[in-house]
Amino acid sequence: MGMPPPIEFHLPTVTSTNDYAKTLLETYPYVFVSAMHQTAGRGRKGRAWEGDYGLNAYCSLALRHSGRIEPEDASAYMARGALSVLHTLRSLDHAVEFRIKYPNDVQALTKEGWKKISGVLVEHEYQGDRCLTTTMGVGVNVQQEIFSDTISALGTSLYLLGIRANVLVVLQELKTHITNFRMQPWQEVHREWVQELNIVGKRVDLAGESGTWVMQEVLTDGRLLARKEQSSTERVISDADTIRYHD
Ligand code: BTN
Repeated sequence: MGMPPPIEFHLPTVTSTNDYAKTLLETYPYVFVSAMHQTAGRGRKGRAWEGDYGLNAYCSLALRHSGRIEPEDASAYMARGALSVLHTLRSLDHAVEFRIKYPNDVQALTKEGWKKISGVLVEHEYQGDRCLTTTMGVGVNVQQEIFSDTISALGTSLYLLGIRANVLVVLQELKTHITNFRMQPWQEVHREWVQELNIVGKRVDLAGESGTWVMQEVLTDGRLLARKEQSSTERVISDADTIRYHD
């Protein structure tokens, strides 16, 4: 039996599409919210997510879970979000290279190296150990030309990559890919995510740890398993900021 599509809302301005979507879950079980502007957009780790009115894509898919969901299903949304963005960007342009940086940033290859073009923020509401709702927010820099000093070194937009795209078209593509991925079993999504992350076998440094580590596996709960070179010491990592790649 197919699942009914989410109820859709498109707004000129919201504080954050994630917050707006969560409030709507009090009335509807499954919603998709998009906006032209956010006044309090946020990223992971309490960072701000900014952009000028009408220049970027902001959206969130939110759902109220009817039954119990496994912790694995909860983390699966990180991968679903990043893959949805990747598919959207690749459908808009075939010349630019895009990749996922663990866990769910999407980067584009520019003349100055890899730069972030999109971020995904997944938030869960729990009651005890039961996950009641999941909200997956996606931001894509579309026509933004000017970034603050701190962001401009690390971030880019479709416009800066030479891709002319309409924000509403990007939102439409995102919605299609996000709702499709929502239906796909985690096993399949995980396989594709691991392939796109391309980190298994890579040598890395880990903050606070000596020596060189080799990435062994992307676990099905979304964390990474690393093993210290020439030893059997293993660490499970969930924070991307801990990892420094060698190449
Ligand atoms: C990150 O890279 O740290 C995640 C950024 C997520 C930004 C999106 S924009 C739509 C949704 N609403 C928010 O407030 N944040 C997410």
